[in-house]
Amino acid sequence: MTLFDRVFSGNDAVYGLTEQAIDGAIAQHGADKAVSFPNTAYSLPCYYGVTGTKIANLGDLKTALGVVKSLMTREKRLNDAFMSGVATALCAEFIEVLKYIDGAAPYEDPCYGHLSDAIIRELGVPLVTGDIPGVAVVLGTAPTAQEGVDLIKSYQAQGILVTLVGGIIDQCAELGYKTGANVRVIPLGKDVTSVIHVVSVAIRAALIFGNITAGDAGALMKYTFERVPAFVNAFGPLDDVVVACGAGAIALGFPVVTNETENIFRVPKSLIVQEDVAKFNATSLEARDIKIKITKIDIPVAFASAFEGEIIRRGDMQVEFDGSRVDCFELVQAKEATEIEDHKIEVIGPDFDEFEVGSKQSIAYIVEVAGKNMQSDFEPVFERKFHSYINCIEGVMHTGQRDMIRVRVSKDTFNAGFRAKHIGEVLYAKIKSEFAAVVDKCQVKVITDAAECTKLRSELAVPSYDKRDERLSTLTDEGVDVYYSCIMCQAFSPSHVCVVTPERLGLCGAVSWLDAKATNELDPQGPCQVITKGGLIDERTGSYQDVNDAVKKYSQGALETVTLYSIIEDPMTSCGCFECICGIEPLSNGVCIANREYAGMTPIGMTFPELASMTGGGVQTPGFMGHGKHFIASKKFMKAEGGVGRIVWMPKDLKDQVAEKLNATAKELYNIDNFVDMIGDETVAEDPETLLAYLEEKGHPALSMEPMM
Ligand code: SF4
Ligand code: NI
Ligand code: NI
Repeated sequence: MTLFDRVFSGNDAVYGLTEQAIDGAIAQHGADKAVSFPNTAYSLPCYYGVTGTKIANLGDLKTALGVVKSLMTREKRLNDAFMSGVATALCAEFIEVLKYIDGAAPYEDPCYGHLSDAIIRELGVPLVTGDIPGVAVVLGTAPTAQEGVDLIKSYQAQGILVTLVGGIIDQCAELGYKTGANVRVIPLGKDVTSVIHVVSVAIRAALIFGNITAGDAGALMKYTFERVPAFVNAFGPLDDVVVACGAGAIALGFPVVTNETENIFRVPKSLIVQEDVAKFNATSLEARDIKIKITKIDIPVAFASAFEGEIIRRGDMQVEFDGSRVDCFELVQAKEATEIEDHKIEVIGPDFDEFEVGSKQSIAYIVEVAGKNMQSDFEPVFERKFHSYINCIEGVMHTGQRDMIRVRVSKDTFNAGFRAKHIGEVLYAKIKSEFAAVVDKCQVKVITDAAECTKLRSELAVPSYDKRDERLSTLTDEGVDVYYSCIMCQAFSPSHVCVVTPERLGLCGAVSWLDAKATNELDPQGPCQVITKGGLIDERTGSYQDVNDAVKKYSQGALETVTLYSIIEDPMTSCGCFECICGIEPLSNGVCIANREYAGMTPIGMTFPELASMTGGGVQTPGFMGHGKHFIASKKFMKAEGGVGRIVWMPKDLKDQVAEKLNATAKELYNIDNFVDMIGDETVAEDPETLLAYLEEKGHPALSMEPMM
């Protein structure tokens, strides 16, 4: 059998099953029965992406099957094989969506099945920064469970996101290997059709970040080929259905590496036979041109971004450092070069083996740095990275910041030999490698002596934080000479530019004005460039000729004018990875905000994914705006339309997070006390009429503001 025959026969088999399944579902539920995946605004994302048509019910699905059939041409040309691969993938999506009829939850632990839009948006930032350098799809049953797990672990250690389909899922369970989105190993499902859930991620990335028009199949495939660094590892023996799916993957630009040798012919850089599973990793990275940044760190456990989300339960911990109970802190200090001995790691106090198992202790670590180009403004920028650095240690968990940190070390990691000095090693290695441009010398003190922690916390750490906070509170848009552009997200959103000012951080929430300033200093040709403030056009909307010129330049002409403070007049664009989205709610003359974590309905009549799908891909959408959480309490939030007084609704959890600062801002701007109490949430209203009644009762300021539209 030729490869063509295998693809065509696999495609025909899946098509037959799909037709049966749809007909069966129609016989059971009727053609009007609604079909959808949960938590997505893109209907059946693959079918929608390829054809531009949204499917609402079983009848539509049957019609769509006819469209799929038209792709299934049977000439023996490469294009026919690819299109049959795409047809197979679409059939798989139809079969999968049927599992979700009537709001069913067809997948159970550890499998995920369909992944929500929110997960994709969360992946945006790590994918652009290279923290997740690639996406592996591991499919089938490995020759032995150990070989399968070793392969997964090798990807994890590189930060690569791994998705699993088929027998490999049971192989992980067999060896007790931990899986889950928090460790970047996502079991999708045991049926081969569940592979569509990762294809769906790639397609939605194109729609969300890439501003690809649904239905433009050519542009879609170009986007996934150029910008989604995914690849497939398929364990033989492969049946024809898997081969047909593989053709679909190749059509999207994802190479397939397999150990199958029978009846397969090789396509350079696309279909690669590698008989040795131990070499799958290297072969795949080469085929997909994925480069891994490695920092060599001298510690007895692994260090990788895949361990960042790992959770350490009470029963598994050797020792805990808890800043809410005892004195703990973390601090970066700029020093003179003569005061620092490079790579000196000093431990002051007892080591981990002197603590009772499971006890709560004090810890403080002070990282002292020196360099010609070091500025004290960079101290908090470095310090904020500690959370991620320490979390990336296998078996170590870190939460919080400054003197409200909590660090847990697992028994396994302790037993591997991990001790206090290794925290110093990690901080040293990361600071030296990531901030090489400004840090010439670095030394670390790790303090576990409780009395010393208490003393240094009050004498050194708290005064330093206070001084920084004072500096931050004087940082206003008016008070600085320059703003910064950020184009980090152009890897995904080719025409998106963020303009970052002291009072408006990047919409991802990860890039403040100080971060952008540091990034610019560290890498002058890099993603953050200085924007001067010349040519004021309109103070009210925050419109400057220099900002417009910069945006035009960095968006390669895609965008000509942008305002800093308006949601209606030339609002800033979104890439797609925003923490929050706000949209106009006409009845109450205000805006509703939803954060990514919020799963419910908003009074606008849209959920977060639906609101979010209104903007993205670097396009201006008046009336909708993606933004960071911290921007909500800014005096510049929708300043052109009247400021934070326009906020009429937010999820309760988000309200709690921003309450203190937002109340202070409202007091200053409108002299209103406890403004947050006037804002509706899901416990008050999920529809505009109930919300309006609530706002009237509370005397919400938006009701007396000028009409927005
Ligand atoms: Fe992306 Fe904007 Fe954040 Fe930069 S500031 S990483 S462009 S969202
Ligand atoms: Ni960790
Ligand atoms: Ni982004």
